[in-house]
Amino acid sequence: MSSEFQKVNALGVYLHDRRIGIINRLVGDSHIFAFEQDYIDDPNRPTLSLSYKSRTGGLITSVRQVSRRLPPFFSNLLPEGHLRDYLAEKAGVKKEREFYLMAVLGADLAGAVTVKPIDAGEREHQHDHDRHGHEEEDQQQKNILRFSLAGVQLKFSAVMEASGGLTIPAHGVGGSWITKLPSTQHAAVPENEYAMLELARAIGIQVPSIRLVSVAEIEALPPDAARLKGKALAVERFDRAAGGHRIHMEDFAQVFGLFPDDKYGGRSYANIAAVLWAETGEEGTYEFVRRLMFSVLIGNADMHLKNWSLLYPDGRTPILSPAYDFVSTVPYIPGDSLALSFGKTKSLDGVTADQVRRFADTARLPMKPVMDIVRETVERTERAWKELPQKDLLPHDILKVIDGQIANAIARTTLG
Ligand SMILES: Nc1ncnc2c1ncn2[C@@H]1O[C@H](COP(=O)(O)OP(=O)(O)OP(=O)(O)O)[C@@H](O)[C@H]1O
Ligand SMILES: [Mg+2]
Repeated sequence: MSSEFQKVNALGVYLHDRRIGIINRLVGDSHIFAFEQDYIDDPNRPTLSLSYKSRTGGLITSVRQVSRRLPPFFSNLLPEGHLRDYLAEKAGVKKEREFYLMAVLGADLAGAVTVKPIDAGEREHQHDHDRHGHEEEDQQQKNILRFSLAGVQLKFSAVMEASGGLTIPAHGVGGSWITKLPSTQHAAVPENEYAMLELARAIGIQVPSIRLVSVAEIEALPPDAARLKGKALAVERFDRAAGGHRIHMEDFAQVFGLFPDDKYGGRSYANIAAVLWAETGEEGTYEFVRRLMFSVLIGNADMHLKNWSLLYPDGRTPILSPAYDFVSTVPYIPGDSLALSFGKTKSLDGVTADQVRRFADTARLPMKPVMDIVRETVERTERAWKELPQKDLLPHDILKVIDGQIANAIARTTLG
């Protein structure tokens, strides 16, 4: 580990550039997060996460010690899987030791949170004197790590080990984008996602601007990126506004205070709907139902807790974020099932009236509007799929599977 970080014992947590709390590292390698008093006292404080909201609407300020990992909200801001392994190795720390990963990656996270070592400025200054000869090396190391989340170079290295495509932030075409590289394992994933997002848009689901770009067109990819053939999917970021202004967001693993490893378990779609009902009212909830039903119809199985997010456009009040990560997974994983339970089943084989009833009851939603949206989504999806121009982008075998999935799921949907 770079000695610069070894001495760090506290990380400042900033929300929209205001320090709202501190993560302290304690002896025995455990961590606690505590809010700043002025944040606690501020009746107009911006929202960090619903997981810190008490039943009565106040801020939960009790601190809980978490060993090795960071508290769940922060753990969820770090990359997962191969990318995390790779970064941890680069930083010379064990991948579970998230405190150090956060120290190096905290400047460029999703939403409006940044995390910085608290005394980094002072130490940098002090070190300036005895650094000769190492500056270039240090700078290189810093760049690699600083760009690790936003950067192409490092992420690309990680994709070589990873099984799937890789998601990397990029700039251009007047905004901030997320670019999803093609998979080395599965055919036409970017084309699939592009078509499914356009289908979603066609039935009235809110979807960010998207483009298919050839990998060769993406600037600043390392030369061996050319090895990845075909198209990448660029998705405009909804957590960045004009001028780079950050809009805060959190995913539902964060909302529920769960670690990223638990994104497939512990909660159901009804639990998400119940939060949306309480926090966003009809609009967010019914839109969620529409997306959920749509996902069943197209065989978009991988809608785990981190594929649903809240945005905080006014800094305080959540709305459901635009849709993302809509891929029909059934062409790649035949017989796939939903990531979470939907009315006690994970089946992609259509939906029953009983299932919708159980879902609505558990989430305490009014039955009729939910059923109406489910019905409407079936009709709209069937019609829009027939006419979808982007179908042409899909290889024949993938098109056939998606076509079969939609037809089968609609035929087997019995809503009474
Ligand atoms: N348009 C967007 N604007 C802002 N953030 C986004 C956007 N799309 C995705 N994200 C964030 O980036 C993360 C990764 O994106 P996405 O889910 O599309 O990629 P993925 O690599 O396919 O994920 P998974 O691990 O589910 O396979 C999401 O969990 C979300 O937090
Ligand atoms: Mg995802």
